[in-house]
Amino acid sequence: MNTESNPEIAQPVKSYPKRKVWMKTYGCQMNYHDSERVMDHLGELNFTPTEDQNEADLILFNTCSIRDLANQKFYSHLGETKRIKEAKGEKVVIGVGGCIAQVEGKELVKKYRHLDFAFGTDVIDQIGDFVFRSFSGDSKFAVNTWDRSTNYSIETKITHDEPRAFVNIIKGCNKVCSYCIVPFTRGKERSRKVSEVRDDIKKLVEHRGVQEITLLGQNVNSFGKDNGETLTELVGELEKVNGLHVLRYTTSHPYDVSDELIAAHGWSTKLAPHLHLPVQSGSTTVLKRMRREYTKDHYLGLLEKLRASKPGIVVSSDIIVGFPNETDDEFADTIDLLNRAEFDFIYSYTYSERKGTRASRMDDTLTDKIKSERLQFLQKHQLEIQKNLRTQMVGKRYLVWVDGDSNMGGVYKLKGRTPCYRIVHFEPPVSGGELKDFKWHWMEVEVSGATALSAQAKVIKDWGINPPTIH
Ligand code: 5AD
Ligand code: SF4
Repeated sequence: MNTESNPEIAQPVKSYPKRKVWMKTYGCQMNYHDSERVMDHLGELNFTPTEDQNEADLILFNTCSIRDLANQKFYSHLGETKRIKEAKGEKVVIGVGGCIAQVEGKELVKKYRHLDFAFGTDVIDQIGDFVFRSFSGDSKFAVNTWDRSTNYSIETKITHDEPRAFVNIIKGCNKVCSYCIVPFTRGKERSRKVSEVRDDIKKLVEHRGVQEITLLGQNVNSFGKDNGETLTELVGELEKVNGLHVLRYTTSHPYDVSDELIAAHGWSTKLAPHLHLPVQSGSTTVLKRMRREYTKDHYLGLLEKLRASKPGIVVSSDIIVGFPNETDDEFADTIDLLNRAEFDFIYSYTYSERKGTRASRMDDTLTDKIKSERLQFLQKHQLEIQKNLRTQMVGKRYLVWVDGDSNMGGVYKLKGRTPCYRIVHFEPPVSGGELKDFKWHWMEVEVSGATALSAQAKVIKDWGINPPTIH
């Protein structure tokens, strides 16, 4: 895409000195999306990205605190940057943003003497000011204030020219899931207006050639509650956007999935035939201790309604095993739920205690050994379920959007995803063809083999960059 001639894309202001930024992002899609926003602001200040920490003028971390492992990885990476500061002195500025910075920014700046500044999740649009302050010698500050305005209004910033983009529609989370740190790191829910999101997306589609949008939020199903609007209304508005082919939304909370939204999966020509719907546990008693506000039966009922509204819809989920005092029977209930839900894939974790949450105050008798044994068992069991589901793909035709390539056992293959989000590998339609010839082409393929994690196929038809009817 020619960015020089496109007035919608901010051009760097040439009067700022040319500088390089190295940035590392941890965690969820929301964090990656925030990082993109940060990079866009920095681009306006004439920063360009670098992969080499040693040549960077600015080193940034966008952190995640959802589980202890993410915290530990970041602390160790931050520690490693000390030698760069020692070697380059004031010529390099080091900053930390995101969820850890929101909660412990002040402590971080005090504890790590080589860290210049920390900034929380609600002030990322002020990154330019923070960088100015630091480069003019005012270092050692932490800003973690909440934006208190009632109106949440932004414009999506994307720094890539791919036809797939994320759009933030709601920030924060008003739920009180007892294990979760997010309400502390992301604050109260605030939604953008339907009309603003629609216009934003129209621009991305019309000026940037975007075909697939993922609507983002910590609890995306709560979208609009503060403005008297709903996610279903937004889906309705986006239905009218010509050129938008696939619409996804994440992350959903089962309690807030309305009947209207389930019906939208039936009538919408844009909503992808896939939904990520984290259940966390299959035990109603654990769900109660997690404060998830629904039961196992309610969840299974939702899946039934969803599958009646959109036959063949693929569902994935998140599971936490080893929640404090989870019994063998409670764990068995989760396995039973996996059998009945038939998830296409899951992200699964052992429970990680987060300081300040309700669950962290529960006395827990489970050992780490039991937790990891349960996780291993669950993951193995789920792979069996997935294998059965995926082998049903064999012999069927799918539309696949090419987004990468691979070299499997010496055979060059293109890789893509179906609208239902399954990965498929296949040889290019012409011999010697490469990714650059086919990236973002829509291909009709016939699946010849499948494992629990991916499928192999052969190309039937290359539709080029514009898909036929998807649903
Ligand atoms: N321990 C383990 N997993 C967690 N998640 C959130 N908090 C915790 C925690 N304290 C998982 C949930 C959520 C996903 C993003 O991370 O499954 O859906
Ligand atoms: Fe955390 Fe629950 Fe909010 Fe999800 S819905 S971000 S798990 S508090």
